[in-house]
Amino acid sequence: MTTKVTIQAMQRKKARGEPITMVTAYDYPTALLVERAGLDMLLVGDSLGMVVLGYQGTVPVTMDAMIHHCQAVARGAQSPFLIGDMPFGSYEVSPQEAVRNAVRFLKEGGMDAVKLEGGREMAPTVAAIVAAGIPVQGHIGLTPQSLSALGGFRVQGKTAAAALKLLDDALALQEAGCFSIVLEAVPAPVAAAITRRLRIPTIGIGAGAGCDGQVLVFHDLVGLFDRFTPKFVKRYANVAAEIQRALAEYKEDVQARRFPADEHTYAMDEGELDKFLAALAARGEG
Ligand code: KIV
Repeated sequence: MTTKVTIQAMQRKKARGEPITMVTAYDYPTALLVERAGLDMLLVGDSLGMVVLGYQGTVPVTMDAMIHHCQAVARGAQSPFLIGDMPFGSYEVSPQEAVRNAVRFLKEGGMDAVKLEGGREMAPTVAAIVAAGIPVQGHIGLTPQSLSALGGFRVQGKTAAAALKLLDDALALQEAGCFSIVLEAVPAPVAAAITRRLRIPTIGIGAGAGCDGQVLVFHDLVGLFDRFTPKFVKRYANVAAEIQRALAEYKEDVQARRFPADEHTYAMDEGELDKFLAALAARGEG
């Protein structure tokens, strides 16, 4: 019997000062691992464009790709609160289109909520999705979908004016109905100040320990993606090295005929084998 993490439970964690845990996952086996690890939230992030699909960034990711990965994750993880990341182009055109796409995340993808990037300019869109009964997580600071507008992977909110703008964005998203906000690549004192002023939990990634919770990309955390590793990543394992070692050993075993061994092979009843060989011989193929 699994117990689903709820928005209310995470709100209580914020009130108690108990950190909220969140990680990304994109497929069934990793979702199972996150489920077993007992994390609070699981994000099917559009970061899958980079770490799973091999794009340079998140912009090419489509709604259909997101739904495909959400469905696999939802089959593997029942307890964490599941969030589907709205991809670039799925929520900017109009609040109506955003609602239509957000509905797909719940109806087809099996998610509990959606996340979208942007500050106060997204408030009407957030309000429309929330009014449709769909919880929304905001995402401000470094927003990878607008990387070209931001001028690359850069820390945000480094000046007093930029920090105040971030705070105002966070307050606008809270007023629009967000249940939580991701703060990405923001100086720690700014993230802590925003966190203290919000009723809803903040989830930091590169935003210091003053946030109400933390999120990391699964592939960064376990060491499965090394094309680009931001300063804020802590690598807890080197899974890529272990997989590389296993592949090399498998190749050598096959080449040296050490694999498959007897224990990996199906036997056949001796009588049936004799009959088979005799039949082959009778056909002149012995
Ligand atoms: O797509 C993603 O993985 C994200 C997290 C980094 C928050 O947006």
